[in-house]
Amino acid sequence: DAVRPLIAGNWKMNGLKASMTEFEAMLRGAPDVLDKADLLVCPPVTLLASFASKASSFGQEGRHVVSVGAQDCHKNVSGAHTGDIAPEMLADAGATAVIVGHSERRADHGETDAVVREKALAAWRAGLTAIVCIGETQGERDAGKTLDVCGTQLQGSLPDDATSGNLIVAYEPVWAIGTGLTPTVQDVEQVHKFICDRLTERFKNEGPSIRILYGGSVKPSNARELMAVPNVNGALVGGASLKAADFLAIAAGC
Ligand code: G3H
Repeated sequence: DAVRPLIAGNWKMNGLKASMTEFEAMLRGAPDVLDKADLLVCPPVTLLASFASKASSFGQEGRHVVSVGAQDCHKNVSGAHTGDIAPEMLADAGATAVIVGHSERRADHGETDAVVREKALAAWRAGLTAIVCIGETQGERDAGKTLDVCGTQLQGSLPDDATSGNLIVAYEPVWAIGTGLTPTVQDVEQVHKFICDRLTERFKNEGPSIRILYGGSVKPSNARELMAVPNVNGALVGGASLKAADFLAIAAGC
C-alpha cells in the first residue's frame, strides 16, 4: 500500500492530569516508530490542550511526532449548546483531527448518519481531519448484512468532496470493540476492499488515498497480522492506546 499508515489512539472516557506521564512516554518513543506510521492520540477534551502543548515541545522540525485529536464535536461554531464543544474550539486547543460517529456516540447519543455527516462537515470548516467511524453490530453480522450496513453508513455519513487530507474512515465492527474479539483477516480484507471501492466510486482519484483504519480489539499481539491486510491503512485503538508501550508496539507492527 502506498498510503502511509496511521495509528490513532482513542482514550474514550479515560485519563486524568497524571496521564501526562504516559503521553510523554509516547512522545519519547514515537521517533522510533515514525518510519512505520503516523501517530495520533485523542484524549478526553479536558486533556486536549495540555497534550497538544506538550506535543509541540517534542516536535521535530516543526512537526509533531504525535498529533492530538478529539473524540467528538458539535456541528455549530458557537451558541447555546450546553456541554458541547465546537470544532473551532478543538482546533484552538491544538487538535488536528476529530473522531465523529464512533459507535459509542451513535449508541449513547442517538447520532444518525445525517448527524455524523454534519459533524464531519463542521470539522472540515475548522480545518480538522474527520475520522468517520462505521461498522456493523453482532446482529447485523449474523444476518449477513455487514456490507449493506457499512455501505449505508458510508453513503449517509460522508460529506461530498472528501479528500485524503480531510477524511479518514475507521471500520469498527461494534462486536469487536473492547471484547478481545476480532474478525478474521479474510473478513477484514473483504470489508476494507468494499470501503475502498465505495470511496473510489464516490471520490474518484482521491478515493484510493483516503486512509481506512481498522478498529476493534487491536493489540500488540494481533497488530502485525491486521495491519498487513490489503487496504488496512492503520488502526483506531481503544484500550491498548492507554499504555505507551502497547501503543508504540502496535505502530511498530505496521
Ligand atoms: O475507537 C476505538 C475502538 O472503539 C476500539 O476499542 O481497541 O478498546 O476495542 P478497543
